[in-house]
Amino acid sequence: MGFFGPLSVHPRHWDGGIAHALLAPVMDCFAAWRTTLAGLFTFAESAKHVHLYEKFGFQARFLTAIMGKVPAPAAPVEFTAWSTVPAADRPRLAGECAALTATLWLGLDVGGEIAGVDALRLGETLLVRDGGRLAGLAVCHVGAGSEAGTGTCYVKFGAVAPGPSAADDFDRLVSACETFARTARVSNLVAGVNLGRRSARRVLVARGFRTIFQGVAMHRDDVPGFSTPDAWVLNDWR
Ligand SMILES: CC(C)(COP(=O)(O)OP(=O)(O)OC[C@H]1O[C@@H](n2cnc3c(N)ncnc32)[C@H](O)[C@@H]1OP(=O)(O)O)[C@@H](O)C(=O)NCCC(=O)NCCS
Repeated sequence: MGFFGPLSVHPRHWDGGIAHALLAPVMDCFAAWRTTLAGLFTFAESAKHVHLYEKFGFQARFLTAIMGKVPAPAAPVEFTAWSTVPAADRPRLAGECAALTATLWLGLDVGGEIAGVDALRLGETLLVRDGGRLAGLAVCHVGAGSEAGTGTCYVKFGAVAPGPSAADDFDRLVSACETFARTARVSNLVAGVNLGRRSARRVLVARGFRTIFQGVAMHRDDVPGFSTPDAWVLNDWR
């Protein structure tokens, strides 16, 4: 899986072919990496953006809602914070995380993001268990200097494994994010969800998340990836 962005051209040079020139090598990278699921998030209302990306084989699919709420968990939920995991246990846990995300898309592994958030102190990764099983994970950015910005906790990537307990696991994962956001003393919890993930979206709405703004996910060759009704995933390709 690969996604790109932000892509930005100085307004003085708009419509001069610079985005085309920038995108051609991006497509070369995807080809060299043998990327099977490639996508981006863009402005749904912009005919220019949709036209530009269509020329590179991307199709507009579902809207992606960037949603937020004041964190207030119905009941605090137990989770493990990655930063508290002893170094000796991290490789095993990283393997569990990779196994979970691989259920969404073969080979998908956000281990680099988990390690990066930890090393750069951008936020925290939350792990929710169901007995001995890793049920879900959420990579969160927190505050100024991160992708969240001041006063905000932003779920960069969150997921639970598919299966009969997925709905409960997902609800607990969102609770864990709210619990963590409160302890981090931020006033906003923000998460993106593709509207193709109908069940996940319904949980956010039921828990009081409101859409702040929305864009459209464009997928190369119209490959749905993990933006399907049964995918319990929070991310928005920004
Ligand atoms: C979006 C952006 C990156 C495009 O860069 P650019 O260098 O102007 O793009 P290009 O000149 O390579 O291509 C623009 C294409 O859109 C077309 N276009 C322009 N206005 C259009 C419109 N209203 N409807 C349809 N097509 C339109 C142009 O004709 C051109 O296509 P063509 O080569 O087939 O004729 C640039 O406008 C930008 O930086 N915007 C602000 C930041 C942003 O929105 N980033 C993207 C976030 S996903």
